[in-house]
Amino acid sequence: MPGKLFPVGGPVSEKDIVDREDFITSLQIRLGDGQSVMLAGPRRIGKTSIAYEVLRRLKEQGFYTASVDFFRLSNKREFAVSLINACLENRTGIRKTLDVLKDRAKAIAGMAKLTIKLEDLEFGFGFLHGEPDENALLDYALDLPEILATRDGRNMVVLFDEFQDASRVVSQEEIYKKMRSHFQNHKNVSYLFLGSKEGIMKALFSNRKEAFYRFAVILPIPPIPEDSWVTYITRKFAEQNIEVDSEITRGILQKTGGHPQDTMLVCSEIYYALLEAGKNTVTPKFVQLGYDRALLILAQIYDEILDELSQKSHVREVLKRIAAGNRVYSRKANPNEIKRALDYLMAKAIIEKDGRGSYRFVEPMFQEYILGEHR
Ligand SMILES: Nc1ncnc2c1ncn2[C@@H]1O[C@H](COP(=O)(O)OP(=O)(O)O)[C@@H](O)[C@H]1O
Ligand SMILES: [Mg+2]
Repeated sequence: MPGKLFPVGGPVSEKDIVDREDFITSLQIRLGDGQSVMLAGPRRIGKTSIAYEVLRRLKEQGFYTASVDFFRLSNKREFAVSLINACLENRTGIRKTLDVLKDRAKAIAGMAKLTIKLEDLEFGFGFLHGEPDENALLDYALDLPEILATRDGRNMVVLFDEFQDASRVVSQEEIYKKMRSHFQNHKNVSYLFLGSKEGIMKALFSNRKEAFYRFAVILPIPPIPEDSWVTYITRKFAEQNIEVDSEITRGILQKTGGHPQDTMLVCSEIYYALLEAGKNTVTPKFVQLGYDRALLILAQIYDEILDELSQKSHVREVLKRIAAGNRVYSRKANPNEIKRALDYLMAKAIIEKDGRGSYRFVEPMFQEYILGEHR
C-alpha cells in the first residue's frame, strides 16, 4: 500500500515541497544571520511547509528552534506554556516538558535528570509548585528564548504561525506591544512570523504606529514555476509506474493555475481514480475526473471563504462578473463601491490585475466554483 502520493492538508516535508529551494535558502541565511522575517499570504499556499523546513535546516546547523501556532491556542496561559515548552524542548528533547515536570504521579525515572537540565533557568520552584500567575508566566515565556540562547551560547530562531491570531488568543490588542517590548532586547534570537490575514499582518509590520513596525523584513512568497511542477508530478507518477506526458501535466496546471494545494489535490484525485479503475496512464478523461472530484472537496473550503468575503458589500456580484468574464462596473452600482470591493478582493489575494488592467482569479478552481454556483 503506497503512502499518500500527493500529500494534501497540513505542512508537507522537504521531498514534497515543490521548488521553493532558493526561497528556503534565503530564509535560512537571513534568520541565521539574526534578521527577523515576516511572510504573509493566504491559507494553503505553503507558508507553514516552508517555515518548518527552514527550522529543520537551522536546527541541523546547530541553532535552537521553537515554534508556536496561534491557531491552536485559546488563551494566555496556553500561549505561555506552548512557548516555554517549545523552548525547553531544545534542552530536554521532549515536547511537553512542563507537563512532565508537573505530573508527579507519573514521576518518571528521568525526572531528577530533567530538573538538573533546567536548573539554571530560574523557573524551578515557583513554576512547579502552585500555579503561577498567567501574566508572570507570559513575561517569563517571552524572555525565555533569549535566556536560553545566552545560557547555552547558541543562536535561536522562533516561529510564530498565524501570528495575527495572537490578539484573539490572549484577548487583548496590547499583546503585540508587549511582545515587541520583550523581543527587541533579544540579541541572540531571530523571529519568523507567518500570517494568513495579509491586511492585518502588513499593517502590524509596516505602519509606523503599529507594534512591529520595522521589526522584520517582509518578503513576498514566490510562485512555483510551472516547470518545477511538471518535473515533480511526472516523477511522482513514475514512482508508481504511472505514465503521464508533459502535455497532460501542463493541462492539469492550466486548470489549477499552479496553486499549491489545488494542484496537489487534483493530482491526488487523479491518482485514486486511476487506482480504482486499475489503469496506469493519465489520460484527459482521468484529469477531468480528478479535477471534478477535487472541486467537490474544495467546495467546503470555498464556501467558508465566500461566506467571509461576502460580509463586504458588492463582493459577490463583482466575483460573479469576473468569473463570467464580464465587465466589473455596471450602470446600476456606484463605481466607488465597486472599486472598494475590488481593492478588498485584491488585498485578500482572491483576484489580481493582469497586464491589460482587467482582473482575474488567483485560484482558477475558485473561479470555476463560483461559475458552477450560478449555472
Ligand atoms: N511548495 C509546495 N509544493 C507542493 N505542494 C505544496 C507546497 N506548498 C504547499 N503545498 C500544498 O498545500 C498544502 C498546505 O500547505 P501549508 O504549508 O500548510 O500552507 P499554509 O501554511 O500556507 O496554509 C500542503 O498540504 C500541500 O498539499
Ligand atoms: Mg499554515
